[in-house]
Formats: sequence, C-alpha cells, structure tokens
Amino acid sequence: MKKKLLSLILAAAMVTTMLVGCGSKEADETASNSAPVADEVVEDDAAPAPAAEDEGDAAGGIQVGIVLPTKDEPRWLQDQAQFESILGDAGFTNQVLFSQGSSATEKTNVETLVSQGIDVLIICAQDGAAAAAAVEAAKAEGVTVIAYDRLITGTDAVDYYVTFDSFSVGVAQGQYLVDNAPAGSGIPLYLYAGAATDNNAFIFFEGAWSVLQPKIADGTFVIANSSEAVALQDKAELTRDEEAAIIGQITTDWDFNVAKSKAEAHLTAASADMKGDVVVLGPNDGTARSIADVFATDKDVSSYIVTGQDAEIASVQYVIDGKQSMTVFKDTRTLAADSVAMAVSILNGETPATDTTYNNEAKDVPAKQTNIVVVTKDNVKAALIDSGYYDASEFTGL
Ligand code: BGC
Repeated sequence: MKKKLLSLILAAAMVTTMLVGCGSKEADETASNSAPVADEVVEDDAAPAPAAEDEGDAAGGIQVGIVLPTKDEPRWLQDQAQFESILGDAGFTNQVLFSQGSSATEKTNVETLVSQGIDVLIICAQDGAAAAAAVEAAKAEGVTVIAYDRLITGTDAVDYYVTFDSFSVGVAQGQYLVDNAPAGSGIPLYLYAGAATDNNAFIFFEGAWSVLQPKIADGTFVIANSSEAVALQDKAELTRDEEAAIIGQITTDWDFNVAKSKAEAHLTAASADMKGDVVVLGPNDGTARSIADVFATDKDVSSYIVTGQDAEIASVQYVIDGKQSMTVFKDTRTLAADSVAMAVSILNGETPATDTTYNNEAKDVPAKQTNIVVVTKDNVKAALIDSGYYDASEFTGL
C-alpha cells in the first residue's frame, strides 16, 4: 500500500507540473498527431505499473480507463493524444477505447475496462442518456466515473464532470455572426446544430440563441431553414423541449455527410431573397467545412460567414484560407490534464477540486470547467502556433 501511495503522490506532483507548464512537450506530441489511429484499442504498454498491490493491477489490469466517442473526428484524436501523453508520463496504466458512434460498443468498452480492474472511468458519451446504463454498471463495481466533455444525463452514477464552457462556445459563435454580418437588415441566417443525443448540442445552441434571437426579433437576421425556430423567434429563452424541436430540424448529427446533404437541401429549397450575403451557424469544424463547401459552390450565394469549433487542423487551414470564418479553440491539453488531476485525487482518496456544478436531471454534478478562445485569421498564429498547440509546418499561408 505504501508503494501505491508513494507512486500516487509522485503522479500527483507530475500532473501538477504538467498543469502549470501545459507546455511545449505535449504540444509537440499534439502537433505530430502521433496518436495511433488504426487500432480501436490503444494500450499504453510503456507506462510503468506503479501500484502492483492494486486489485486491478494484480489481475494485470488498468488503473484509468478512457472511453471516447469516435476516432473518425480529429477532435477526439487530439484528446486521445493528450491522455496517452499525460497518463503515461504520470505512470498510470491506462487504456483508451473508442465507441465508434455506437452506444452498444460504448457499453461493451466500459465493461471491458471494468473487468480489467479500473479504479477511474473517464468517459465522453456517444449518447448522453444511453450512457447512463454503462456508467451505472461501472459504479456498481466501485469505479469512480468522470464524464468528459459531454454530460451523461438521467443518472446519479456520474461522480464528476470535466468540461469546456460550452455555453460560451455558442455565445462566441452567435456573437461572431452578429459582429461580422453585412450591414443592413433581412440577412438570411442558416442554423445548424450538433447531435440531439449530445447534451452539448443543446448548450451550444442555447448560447448561440441568446445572442442571435434579439437580432432575429429586430429584423437584422431572417431564419432561412427552420420553421420551428421561426415559430419561436420571439422567445428569448427556450425550454429544453423547444430547443429539441429546433435541433430536430437542423441537426447535423455531428456528421459531415448529414451536414452536407442538409445544406444542399436548404439551398435548393431557398428562395432568391434567402441567398446573396448570408450568415451560417456552423456547430463544429467538421460540419462547418461541409457546409462551407456547399455554400461556396452556390452561384446565388455571394458571400457567407460560417462558424465552427475545435480548431481542427483542416479547419484552421480553412480559416487561414478564408473558407471558414472562425473556430473556437478548446485546449484539449487542459481538459485531459484536469481529468487526470481529478483521477489522481480520487486514487489518493481525496475530493477533487471543482469550480461549478451541472445538473444532469438526476443530480448536480460537481464540475471543473475550462475557458475557450475564439480563433480567427487575425489571431490564429498567437492562439494556436505560439501557444505550442500546433506546429507552423502543419499549415500553408500563415
Ligand atoms: C464536443 C465538440 C465536438 C462534437 C462532435 C461535442 O460534444 O464538445 O467539441 O465537435 O461533440 O464530436
């Protein structure tokens, strides 16, 4: 036990150092995007197993299990790279599993990790409601559950939540459209949202609506592609059901292809006065690029402004090239480091530091929240290159 305690104290010290100096080493690893992408199961064999007495390790097991939604989106490969770097450096045995868009796979992944003796589960749910059953099963085996980035809803089996300030993401997207729209009124506004199974999609939309709605109500913007949003356009604050009705129409499912075909259908259906200079609420980078490509090829769209989030490499290049107007940088170094620091506290029998709570319909989940940074052509170098997140060689025309 003594050995385990010592190793945890050492690990805690290392994570603290990493949090303070969240610096160039991890950045280099992110920049090279060295995360293996071919395998669905990634185990950090190189990491020493510091806690031989731990029950999980006695079974040849893993201390910290991580489940991420998909490796088909660069966003989650960024998170994977950070976890492997930070947990490996801290000396934890760990395993990252991907759910590949399936709640059933996600549940199997959780069961696999539990059977390997994990003490802490860090999970970004594929579907926030469906994941409740998986985390309840983990909790029943004495595992501490940290919801990562996406809140798991309708269960008290979530112990902690580590997240970005998602409301501010939506506000930043909406505010960008307000601040950069062409002068005048009657500007067509195309709305798109994330997956209805992702609690974040609601928070992002709520943030965006809080700044867009007054500009719709005063006639600056005219909603082009959602009858549900038009029906609610005079309401400053929407209920969850009202948001669900709108999101049901404008969801991209976080899928590039869905985003593309919806944008094509919307432009095909749009009348001439809904073209010209337009603004578009793009929910994240992958879908924003698809939507941007569709709007760019419509000869009746003279200009478009489109938002995104995640600072994916391909979208940063789009921003540099003027094809996507902005992105929101969510520093995965901080989110992963916060989760690992939380895991260290839990393994040491301490209560992790949190700074807010999120209600998940079953309880107020103690949460640690991280701020976001708006990135445009003007600050792309300072925000993403000078901060060490990406290497300049990833881009052209910087
Ligand atoms: C995340 C975004 C991501 C989206 C699609 C959201 O829950 O917060 O960063 O782009 O899921 O994967």
